Amino acid sequence: MSTIDKDLLKTPMRNPYAPLLQPGRIGQLEIRNRIIMSPMGSNFAENDGTCGERIQAYYEARAKGGAGLLTMGVCSVAFPNGTGEPFQVGVSRDDFIPGLALVAARVHKHGAKIAMQLQHGGKTAALDRAQGRELWVPSIPKMVKNDMMSAITREELATFIGIGPHPVRIRVMDHADIAQMVEYFASAALRAKQAGFDAVELHGAHTYILAGFLSAYSNHRDDEYGGPLENRARLLLDTLRAVKARVGADFPVWIRLDGEELHTPGGITLADAIATARMCEAAGADAISVSAYATLTSGVVFTEAPIPQQPGAYISNAAAIKSALTIPVITAGRIEPEVAAQAISEGQFDFVAMARKMLADPEIPIKLERNRPQDIRPCIYCYACVSEIFVNKRVKCAVNAQTGHEFELPIEPATSPRHVLVVGGGPAGMEAARVAALRGHKVTLVERSDRLGGTLFFAGLAYPENGKLLDYLVEQVKQLPIEVMLSTEASPELIAKLKPDTILVASGARRAAPAIQGAGQRHVWSGDELRRLMTGDRADEVAKAKLNLAERALFKAGGMLRVTDSAEALQSLSKLWMPLGKQVVIIGGGLVGLELAEFLLARGRQVTVLEPGDKAGRELSIVRRWRVLDVVTSHGQLHLKASVREITSQDVIWHDAEGVEQRTPADSVVLAIGAEADDQVSGLLANCGVPVQRIGDCASVNYIEGAMHDGHRAGREV
Ligand SMILES: Cc1cc2nc3c(=O)[nH]c(=O)nc-3n(C[C@H](O)[C@H](O)[C@H](O)COP(=O)(O)O)c2cc1C
Repeated sequence: MSTIDKDLLKTPMRNPYAPLLQPGRIGQLEIRNRIIMSPMGSNFAENDGTCGERIQAYYEARAKGGAGLLTMGVCSVAFPNGTGEPFQVGVSRDDFIPGLALVAARVHKHGAKIAMQLQHGGKTAALDRAQGRELWVPSIPKMVKNDMMSAITREELATFIGIGPHPVRIRVMDHADIAQMVEYFASAALRAKQAGFDAVELHGAHTYILAGFLSAYSNHRDDEYGGPLENRARLLLDTLRAVKARVGADFPVWIRLDGEELHTPGGITLADAIATARMCEAAGADAISVSAYATLTSGVVFTEAPIPQQPGAYISNAAAIKSALTIPVITAGRIEPEVAAQAISEGQFDFVAMARKMLADPEIPIKLERNRPQDIRPCIYCYACVSEIFVNKRVKCAVNAQTGHEFELPIEPATSPRHVLVVGGGPAGMEAARVAALRGHKVTLVERSDRLGGTLFFAGLAYPENGKLLDYLVEQVKQLPIEVMLSTEASPELIAKLKPDTILVASGARRAAPAIQGAGQRHVWSGDELRRLMTGDRADEVAKAKLNLAERALFKAGGMLRVTDSAEALQSLSKLWMPLGKQVVIIGGGLVGLELAEFLLARGRQVTVLEPGDKAGRELSIVRRWRVLDVVTSHGQLHLKASVREITSQDVIWHDAEGVEQRTPADSVVLAIGAEADDQVSGLLANCGVPVQRIGDCASVNYIEGAMHDGHRAGREV
């Protein structure tokens, strides 16, 4: 058995996650539980495709965290040909084996199993395109027009995948190429086995080469590899048989398939996927993993598939495929542990694959075994991870600073524990307090308002996913020996009383009111005022200044002030009551303005966003930006290069990109601009004779990711 606490496993039936914690089997492979780390291209390999310390430590952390099986994503069978990422893992030559063997050994040390996902990028081999190599395809690909690049900033464009000086070169595969492709996969599978991997997964999804042949959308061949599904599946099935023959019947081999291809005329349907899965089973596949793909007709469809926003997006397809098979079925797609437990016990699928959640918290399985879901650091579905791949960078996680840095950023006991005072209970302050306390420091956390959360509370209101992070941080602060002092202003007197050895100031950004004529009116809200009113941070003061008597009564009757401990309760209450009128103009189309627009549109407001720059949402990750921009532009209005002249009692007067004056009627105006670092609190404490360090937004405005990473760093270094 694993290094997992054996006593905890003795009582799995009292644990609601028990169905997830029971052992499972794929072919001859015994797996300690039903939780699989879904394949992810991480860009954590070395420049030459070998596995160094970074990627070894990354997988080891997930094995240690209790997953039953890890899948190493997109390992390139023809490296560097067929790759899409600059730091992709190679498995095309024997000299890749030693590094791969180290990964396998470090995973096995913790009782987990590891499978290698074998891949050739086909038409999406962006690195081939950028470096002038031929793209191997079943047929000449169709051009797809989309709006994806319009949201990309100049800096992002400079490193965007697939962009290079060379003209695109296409190679429609002939029979010799097809035989070569089969051989690439078969010899790579053997290397995986020689490196000590427990299984291989053939990547038959996401428009890569095997899926390219499977899909009638991209395969128009008229030979025995094109036409009816039996022909389109020939490359996949030939590959599967060749792999099986090379690695031996007992070595588990399975296929990742698209349950369907969305937004793809003539693409893979569920019926195709079921039929393909059956053919794979007949040809010796030991399992089927169900994913999905969407032709990128716009950026936002990427959040339908393959990386869905909708929880449990592929479960029904997985269930339909499972009902046609006798071999196990794996599926992914934002599946919460309780949903997975239920679905597994109902027989909808056999193994749950988690991707983003495993980046946010490698220890999910252990925490579920302990029945401590409140200790799981949640993914906030900000898409920071996968957006990095679009700009050729190493994957990162906004909420977990250690992801991809396991080898260099461990949390270690402090050599000389000290008294650390953290000023400000927002995300940076709480994360710093958490890490410092874990290291054995004595930590005091002071917060001016009467509850923890800071800007994260407001962020959780605008995007509920953020609220889960707030709950997690508050819970951790509660559990650890951290002294929390609410409703407490940091002052030299307080420092003299507490006598800390060091001070971390995490007091948040300042939001200066912009010099716009009319900005002082009652119906004009600064982001800060809105935040304070909705979150109860000195809300009475704001209510008095901004609301009339009737509104104030409604505000109180709505119980807004009383529910401010719960972002979730505020979310639903805000559907009934918000201090903003029907027509809202938001000045500023950055992260705050756009998320606020999304939130207000969901509450039936007419929203116009006026952004002075030529791009909106640049602080949002690329993929989340595509999503939010889609919502805002399809349900509201967004104007770029808009310069606001005046706010009157009825409208906002502004000049459009052509310099033409426009008037937009507005009952309420929100100023979502002007957040800047703030040294007021640190300045106040500067002469107390104790070292002071600013962290999070008060040092540099970088929102949740910046706060979490800076807080982690400060807690680690203090
Ligand atoms: C950063 C990142 C990289 C991914 N890379 C791969 C990959 O290499 N191969 C693959 O089949 N799927 C890949 N996926 C898709 C995931 O395996 C998974 O199917 C998808 O993220 C949905 O699961 P989730 O909601 O648990 O994240 C990737 C996802 C992410 C977030």
